[in-house]
Amino acid sequence: MTITSRLTDLLPLRMRSQVDSTIEAISTLAEIRDPKVMSSLAPAGVRGLLLQRGKQGEPTKIQATHQAHFDWTYPNDQPEMAELYRRAKQGQWDSDTALPWHTDVDPLNPEVPLIPDSFIDFDRLETYGIRLDAPSKMKLRFSIVSWMLSQFLHGEQGALFAAAQVTEAVQFFDGKLYGATQVMDEGRHVEVFSRYLDDKLGRLYQINDNLYVIIDALMSDSRWDMKFLGMQIMVEGLALGAFGTLYRQTSEPLLKALLKNVIQDEARHVHYGVLALREHIKKEISERERQEREDWAFEVAILMRNRFMAYEVYEEWFEGTVSRATWREIVTGLPGMREFRQVMFSRLVPNLREIGLLSPRILPHYEKVGLLKYMHGAAADRLTAEQLVADLDSAA
Ligand SMILES: [Fe+2]
Ligand SMILES: [Fe+2]
Repeated sequence: MTITSRLTDLLPLRMRSQVDSTIEAISTLAEIRDPKVMSSLAPAGVRGLLLQRGKQGEPTKIQATHQAHFDWTYPNDQPEMAELYRRAKQGQWDSDTALPWHTDVDPLNPEVPLIPDSFIDFDRLETYGIRLDAPSKMKLRFSIVSWMLSQFLHGEQGALFAAAQVTEAVQFFDGKLYGATQVMDEGRHVEVFSRYLDDKLGRLYQINDNLYVIIDALMSDSRWDMKFLGMQIMVEGLALGAFGTLYRQTSEPLLKALLKNVIQDEARHVHYGVLALREHIKKEISERERQEREDWAFEVAILMRNRFMAYEVYEEWFEGTVSRATWREIVTGLPGMREFRQVMFSRLVPNLREIGLLSPRILPHYEKVGLLKYMHGAAADRLTAEQLVADLDSAA
């Protein structure tokens, strides 16, 4: 036990929680081993974790500094991206008519639960001294789903802006045309998640600080391929894992239909990310730059794995009952969260391999954190949207 933790143990639980949150913010930054990665994430880290910019209740302005890349010759330069563009045009759907919005959603109805009991495992919560009656259990499930969907919505806003920026900055002309469809897709995703939260659940949680850090870092990074790596591969990979888990587990028909449509769009986005980055990393950047991206991807993967702790739910329900440290232990062990991490990394690791960011120099790090087992899975350019949904259906 450290001196700091001995001292904080003497404080009342609520105050201890505030101290813990500051210490955790600092240790999140200190955990980043690589100095280059540290310098690229630290300013966003301070804004997100210490200043909590995403929670200040006013519009957040982030300076973007990328260069727009014009080409007045309009080359047909990337046949695979052109094919993806064709598929994306055909795959467009109208959010008003494609989803059963007339569905009556009652988030507290035990007959049609948003997530099953097993997502949380209430018996395990009892071992931490958290005993809830049946109505409270339904309410906690409602909170957790609303929190997840709120984070999806905030992530989609980031994806919308990142897709627009990358469309400007990318050097492939076929990529720009494809990118325009993705901007439309992300706009639609913002619309449907926002509408579901507003009309059906009547709730919206603030953005999680760690998600804010990643979005802030990507918006302000001037290198398009870093935005791309962060958004198309890491955040979209995370989103696919989370959407897939919720899609499999929910019994609510409107949410299930909404997630299925979104997952099919996202599969194209990750596919495009793999195509564009594979070309770029192989042909355009130096070995030193490739290594920097390889280190960055590893650090961000670890951040994402360890840091989505639903503190916003904790603050609403359990601050004053259990410590933040105990809450971290609870969330890490939730069966639904374990499945989410598994789905996420089984998609993410093969994509990193495919774009050339899993060279032998980094493998020992992945092995050390137990992620190497996903090394040989299929990357996004080998998986169609239909296969992806069929995979989820067959696992259900
Ligand atoms: Fe999206
Ligand atoms: Fe996306």
